[in-house]
Amino acid sequence: MARILITSALPYINGVKHLGNLAGSMLPADVYARAMRLMGHEVLYICATDEHGTPAELAAAKEGLKVEDYCDKMHEVQAQSGADFKLSFDYFGRSSAPSNHKLTQHFAEVLEANGLIDERVSKQVYSHADGRYLPDRYVEGTCPNCGYEAARGDQCDNCDRLLDPVDLIDPYSAVSGSKDVEIRDTNHLYLKQSDMADRLRAWIDSSTEWPSLAKSISYKWLDEGLQDRAITRDLDWGIPVMKDGKPRPGFENKVFYVWFDAPIEYIAATQDWAEANNENWERWWRKDKGAEDVTYVEFMGKDNVAFHALSFPTTIIGSGEPWTLVDKIKAFNWVTWYDGKFSTSNNRGIFMDQAIELAPSDYWRWVLTANAPEGSDAPFTLEDFQGRVNSDLANVLGNFVNRITKYTVGKFDGKLPDGGEWGEAEDWIVDELATRLPALMEYYEKMQFRKAAAETRAIWAAGNEYLTQAAPWTHYKTNVDQAAIGTRVGLNLVALFGILAQPIIPDAAAKILDAIGVPEKNRTWKFDREDWKACVSDILDALPRGMEIKAPDVLFTKIEDDQVAAWVERFGGGEG
Ligand code: MF3
Ligand code: ZN
Repeated sequence: MARILITSALPYINGVKHLGNLAGSMLPADVYARAMRLMGHEVLYICATDEHGTPAELAAAKEGLKVEDYCDKMHEVQAQSGADFKLSFDYFGRSSAPSNHKLTQHFAEVLEANGLIDERVSKQVYSHADGRYLPDRYVEGTCPNCGYEAARGDQCDNCDRLLDPVDLIDPYSAVSGSKDVEIRDTNHLYLKQSDMADRLRAWIDSSTEWPSLAKSISYKWLDEGLQDRAITRDLDWGIPVMKDGKPRPGFENKVFYVWFDAPIEYIAATQDWAEANNENWERWWRKDKGAEDVTYVEFMGKDNVAFHALSFPTTIIGSGEPWTLVDKIKAFNWVTWYDGKFSTSNNRGIFMDQAIELAPSDYWRWVLTANAPEGSDAPFTLEDFQGRVNSDLANVLGNFVNRITKYTVGKFDGKLPDGGEWGEAEDWIVDELATRLPALMEYYEKMQFRKAAAETRAIWAAGNEYLTQAAPWTHYKTNVDQAAIGTRVGLNLVALFGILAQPIIPDAAAKILDAIGVPEKNRTWKFDREDWKACVSDILDALPRGMEIKAPDVLFTKIEDDQVAAWVERFGGGEG
């Protein structure tokens, strides 16, 4: 058994996350964590809120809250959303936690000692009206790249280009709106990523198990020439910059840049998890203390790849200390809202708190996994959502389960029937599963989520095909034994379908398995992979004959056209 450390990119604290955020990191990480646990691996899945930086300060100001209070509040909101969507974090931490302060300061210290951080004069926008520097999103202006007039200092929302605030044309303060700004010199700490470029390239070359999207993005950055990066900012809220245990001279009004401390929170959150649960964090993160056999997998949207494949590894490798380094980066393209962007700032699309009011979490989990933005951006539309829920979940899985369980209750007294001869239909389903099950396992191991969902659905569809072939209802009148085997295999398929559905639709899976009475310990994926045919034959005769089963309550309710119409009306579906 392997030990697998999983992290999903830390969601920014500034607001409830939309379905695009969910689909591009937290949900697939959760599906993967669940699948790996089912296979019997030891899994630790860590996430947290990303609480520093200008987005947090601006959002707090907008709500008239102190930034600490705003973060307290939004952390609870996001933790609740995670719970609502059944994200099975082992720990959901906060990047503002004391543990992260300490660890971030530690990394800065060792990186400086190793010559990878230096202090440089840098140009910053200073606002006279506000009496302060304006880093990142505190300044807005015209994009030098595309001419968009409300570009933010760190990035243009129109063309997506990453920006330096001093390059904005006609800059103004996002705090006061004042145009009375000038460019001044002030010192900042720089992480010398350029010094690490060769080592990073060699490491990425040797990392054969990275899915292709993360790899190609990383090479693009390396090919363009890796730039050194300022890792401090002129802000109050964040992690203070220290030197020899005291505030670093000249940095009293500065803190670390959010992108420097956020990934370090993966480690700090693990420390907090260990502290809270009487566990040991070092056996996950320190190669000198038991973590040498850990496989570390990171999930994120494509805009996060440079930070995880280049910057954070610079911190880790550059420290010269034996920290766990990422083994596989799984990156995603965007889920789009129809053919435009989901947007938190423009309130476009559906947000997690709204989604959960409209439909159960399983429905969203299924559709966002089946439509995962892996090869390219993938549009989310309410019409497609309805189609997939109604056909995949209600028709293919739900009907199968209902048909055979109700039939058992009606004709066999609710007991798993004995008797009957193995025949052609049974051979057919064994063959079918003996190729589909290993394929499914492989898709999960390779983190190919669209394919995993498609294969899961294909297995459910094969179940329906089996019932058509075995047709217990036709045989019942003339040959009860013949009906019995079809029913028995059908019920074993129900159990298997519940077992296989667990990573993506955990609630429905639990309902199915509870109704069939499959004990917790038999819900795992510990399949004998040496001989799939024998394994499948065992699976199809796993439930004890005579056992009592129930028909589950309605598993999935179909989504009606008028519901979709009302949602489109409310969320502004097709336009844009
Ligand atoms: N908050 C960032 C985003 O939403 C992701 C941070 S990932 C971390 O894009 F590792 F740096 F925390
Ligand atoms: Zn632009």
